[in-house]
Amino acid sequence: KRPGTGRPTVPLPPEFTTRDAGPFDPPSALTRLGEDGPVHRVTMLDGDPAWIVTSHELARTLLGDPRMSSDRFRSRRVLEKLPAPVRARMTDARARAGSFITMDPPEHTRYRKLLTGQFTVRRMRQLEPRIQRIVDDHLDAMIAAGPGADLVQAFALPVPSLVICELLGVGYGDRGEFQERTGKLLKLDVPVDEVMRLAEELRAFMQGLVRSKRAEPTDDMLSGLIQADPTLTDDELIGMANLLLVAGHETTANMLALGTFALLEHPEQLAALRAEPSSVGGAVEELLRYLSIVHLGVVRTTREEVEIAGEVVPADSTVLVSVPAGNRDPYQYPRPDVLDVTRPRGPHLAFGHGVHQCLGQQLARVEMTVGFTGLLTRLPGLRLAVPAAEVPMRDDMLVYGVHALPITWDA
Ligand code: HEM
Repeated sequence: KRPGTGRPTVPLPPEFTTRDAGPFDPPSALTRLGEDGPVHRVTMLDGDPAWIVTSHELARTLLGDPRMSSDRFRSRRVLEKLPAPVRARMTDARARAGSFITMDPPEHTRYRKLLTGQFTVRRMRQLEPRIQRIVDDHLDAMIAAGPGADLVQAFALPVPSLVICELLGVGYGDRGEFQERTGKLLKLDVPVDEVMRLAEELRAFMQGLVRSKRAEPTDDMLSGLIQADPTLTDDELIGMANLLLVAGHETTANMLALGTFALLEHPEQLAALRAEPSSVGGAVEELLRYLSIVHLGVVRTTREEVEIAGEVVPADSTVLVSVPAGNRDPYQYPRPDVLDVTRPRGPHLAFGHGVHQCLGQQLARVEMTVGFTGLLTRLPGLRLAVPAAEVPMRDDMLVYGVHALPITWDA
């Protein structure tokens, strides 16, 4: 089963994505690579080579190396292999404007700075009680309708989606429409043409939002961006808003759901966290490390021939910096395969590294801290409602996690 979403994924052979070692552990083929050395040449399903980096230290070095480009579509070969409608979109300047995650400095720097200026301590503080409110409202609704729910639909997906609404200043009346549109885009078996149509609809929605913020600025990030740089075009603003949505929704949702699943399957860790609720910050970092939901890795394309740990990698090659392998590197972490919520905090690769390191990481941390705390305190006896082996896993998606998480709790 392959995702029908038409998103430009990296066609890795299934042995590097199939979770044969368990739902929380990296595929055994990836672990074996890691034991063999820091970098490895593999052949992708489309016949092209890719280099997988499994060492934590090398991962950080490469993610700080300006010879590694984030613009995957600079390679003609990669472009030619995309389905025609996706290729058209990926080369359309209007559709690419503002989506700085695929840009390199200095182009990237301008947008990154503008947005960093919006992710202020003040705004994060302002958002915290609103996030708490969103979490509480969803728990109230779940409890009222329960016991029993799919945590993904009832909690993990709507919470980060509504936080992005807060960030962008989507009015309350429009949130239903926003959630419906974004929810459809995350569905598994949507044909490419349908995805393109949905993306256009979302674009029209964002266009309307930008227009309304230009006419009537409010206290949100989009209005803040317009004010900070009046030369930003509508296309750039739409691209930035879309990027926040794409980068911040599915990721946080999967951390909430997969994190809950992992805690339920490690009852001693769950008990440790319940016994010391103030340690939730450390538990969040450990779950980020242990679960590595950006499971295909952070993708880069070489701008020129580069020697990586003795391997000569030609220009225009795909380099996959493996987040799961780097986050389980035994040279970096003692007992890397153990989930230990009391582990001393240290760096991990879950948010990437270097100039593209996740811009929303503080926000994601607040969402997870508030989210896990709410779930554990409001739902006594929280447990799976199906055997663990029946939980549908997302190893076929860009972001790893669960498609659904049937849970129940004591009434
Ligand atoms: C970038 C992970 C939540 C916004 C990244 C990158 C990773 C990542 C690995 C680096 C990509 C690269 O180097 O190519 C995550 C995870 C999250 C999360 C695991 C949740 C647990 C969020 C949230 C937002 C966000 C909540 C904002 C609402 C961004 C943006 C970038 C980014 C804008 C691009 C930064 C740049 O290119 O300079 N994220 N992210 N992320 N993330 Fe996140």
